[in-house]
Amino acid sequence: MTSKMTRILFVCLGNICRSPTAEAVFRARAEQAGILSRLQLDSCGTGDWHVGKAPDSRAQRAAATRDYDLSALRARQLDPSDFDRFDYILAMDAANLRDIIALQAASSESASPESNASSVHIGRFLDYAPNQCHADVPDPYYGGDKGFDDVLDLIEAASDGLLAQLVDAADAHGGPPNKPEAFQ
Ligand code: 4NP
Repeated sequence: MTSKMTRILFVCLGNICRSPTAEAVFRARAEQAGILSRLQLDSCGTGDWHVGKAPDSRAQRAAATRDYDLSALRARQLDPSDFDRFDYILAMDAANLRDIIALQAASSESASPESNASSVHIGRFLDYAPNQCHADVPDPYYGGDKGFDDVLDLIEAASDGLLAQLVDAADAHGGPPNKPEAFQ
């Protein structure tokens, strides 16, 4: 891969269950693949209810059973500046995707001419796990422990798919992709 960083933002509703899990799983998988130094990873929520809080204890416990550590993460809300700061903004579900696109549309009306927000690729994280029968990572917040385990299965599958695409594109083009096929 070239020295260009690929910046990826994982987004859910509260940023205390799914997207911090996605950030931690993808970070661990990217480290195993040897490409973590080429990535900037973050997560956030479309809502502001949990800003500043650590991930949900159930999400932390479920992740820990697979050796992922979420404890240092703190929730933040999606911000218009994220459309300039990231190459990929990946939603956990359809409602998150709608909210991301709505914020982008609202903020582009007041964006400066230097903004490169139009080059960000916004999509669903599970587009990278085409063999799963889910399009959305289901919200586990109001359910039981099994929901958190299911979230991990889906996120691991999508992480491996995205990672494979980044590595393939780097091999083909000598660097990370500017326009991943899933978003074209
Ligand atoms: P997340 O889960 O979007 O995966 O972080 C939720 C967390 C909190 C709430 C809903 C979903 N809530 O309603 O507070």
